Amino acid sequence: MDIFEAMETCRAMRYLRPDPVPDELIDKLLWAATRAPSPGNSQGWEFVVVRDRDVMSQIGELVGGRMTASMGGLVDTLPPSQARLLRGALHLANTLPQVPALFVVCSRRVYPPQDPQEVFVWSCVYPAAQNLILAARALGLGSTFATWQTVAETELREILGIPEDVFIGATIPVGYPERDFGPVARRPVAEVVHHDHW
Ligand SMILES: Cc1cc2nc3c(=O)[nH]c(=O)nc-3n(C[C@H](O)[C@H](O)[C@H](O)COP(=O)(O)O)c2cc1C
Repeated sequence: MDIFEAMETCRAMRYLRPDPVPDELIDKLLWAATRAPSPGNSQGWEFVVVRDRDVMSQIGELVGGRMTASMGGLVDTLPPSQARLLRGALHLANTLPQVPALFVVCSRRVYPPQDPQEVFVWSCVYPAAQNLILAARALGLGSTFATWQTVAETELREILGIPEDVFIGATIPVGYPERDFGPVARRPVAEVVHHDHW
């Protein structure tokens, strides 16, 4: 797939089929993620790829339960587009036990080597995560950025055995899409660009 088409149609896919994703595609996503740039080519990223059904169920119950308790009641109070997004986010978290794979994108504080800073952790994590998501789209797989660590970080770390000095940057569920990919809705370029001067 042409990279521009992948970018244009890479909607957050929150409805995923339970069909397994072949190992070769999982490897390809990891390859794509690790082709990303990073500060000083520090490549501080590390990934936990979760496919074990018991672990996925534990995470799904934890995150789905937390999100439903804190945000479930908001669905009916939001404007339609936001309500649709939240419904999708709750659906994804609550169906995680059936989702084939979850990529947890992490990084240690590694850059600059003489005085590693947290800001560069995120500089490592996000390009890698976006590479992974675009590669998934190009392979016909659905995914989305998620930040589930923000609702249950302590428990997530415990379930996955993530060391204390490792930051969790993104959680990315991946599977074959249950719904159609479609054009992303974004602000027009002209509205956000300043030429030569703000
Ligand atoms: C850093 C980041 C965190 C996000 N966290 C979540 C999340 O926790 N759950 C979720 O369902 N979507 C999450 N999203 C996806 C956004 O909601 C989505 O990309 C945005 O609404 C645009 O939708 P679209 O990509 O379908 O056009 C996140 C996106 C980013 C970039």
